[in-house]
Amino acid sequence: MNQPTVRQALARAIERLTDARIEEARLDAELLLAHTLGISRSGLFLQLDRRFPTEKASAFMDSIERRLRHEPVAYITGHKEFYGLDFRVTPDTLIPRPETELIVEKALEVAPRRNFRFLADIGTGCGAIAITFAVHLPRATVWAVDTSDRALAVASENARRHGVSKRVRCLCGDLVDPLPHPVDLIAANLPYVTDEEMMRLPDDVRLFEPAAALAGGQDGLDCIRRFLARAPSKLRPGGIILLEIGPSQGPRVSALARKTFDGATIETVPDLSGKDRVIAVFS
Ligand SMILES: C[S@@+](CC[C@H](N)C(=O)[O-])C[C@H]1O[C@@H](n2cnc3c(N)ncnc32)[C@H](O)[C@@H]1O
Repeated sequence: MNQPTVRQALARAIERLTDARIEEARLDAELLLAHTLGISRSGLFLQLDRRFPTEKASAFMDSIERRLRHEPVAYITGHKEFYGLDFRVTPDTLIPRPETELIVEKALEVAPRRNFRFLADIGTGCGAIAITFAVHLPRATVWAVDTSDRALAVASENARRHGVSKRVRCLCGDLVDPLPHPVDLIAANLPYVTDEEMMRLPDDVRLFEPAAALAGGQDGLDCIRRFLARAPSKLRPGGIILLEIGPSQGPRVSALARKTFDGATIETVPDLSGKDRVIAVFS
């Protein structure tokens, strides 16, 4: 049989993923093919009429087979983009989501009016929030906290790759407890999925992403409740908290925050689709 072109190999992969009802079949096939060929997705389009290299065929087929078993593309390639930066991810780390960029946007929006020296990212995972803060705020030091040593190893590697390892300090422990002193801003994307939602998660998430990064107990707020109770002791006067929430949790989490931070301004920040996503506390 003639050696197929890159275009033909791509078309075949899209067809297989589409037949298996993988939602983003085209995008996923393009990302996996670009990864196999060691080029960017935009570079792929310049190579479509070239012959598909025979020696890459089995690696590409393997990656498509993994996707057919619902393994997320980011775990197959080992990479995910967040706020324009590339992050290494492994099955020990949640894959950063676009909606989490809202925390970074909000922090960078207020940063010019505040002299942020110390920030914290609680539940840092692969370090996406902490490292993006450090890249965009070159005078700041960021504490990156997680209960998972393995996630922290990935966060440290990402901090090195982005040249900010001197200013991103990884700490293992529970919530704000490991912070050595109060900070100017605490960001947190903690587990907030309810027990019932955990059972209905899509296979991509349920079978592959770490349950400890997602499961928030019966009402999803186990971790968030404990976080809000302890956060005041590690926040400087006038400090800010940016906390990611599930879309239905806005009213309950703002009420909890109001109880803890007497006199603070509390905002619920929606994402682009209008869903409540972040609770901002200006103490
Ligand atoms: C939803 S993931 C967020 C990961 C990353 N910040 C992001 O936005 O992609 C939650 C993270 O919190 C960590 N975690 C869970 N419980 C924790 C706790 N009590 N203290 C610190 N980190 C915790 C998990 O290990 C996981 O890495």
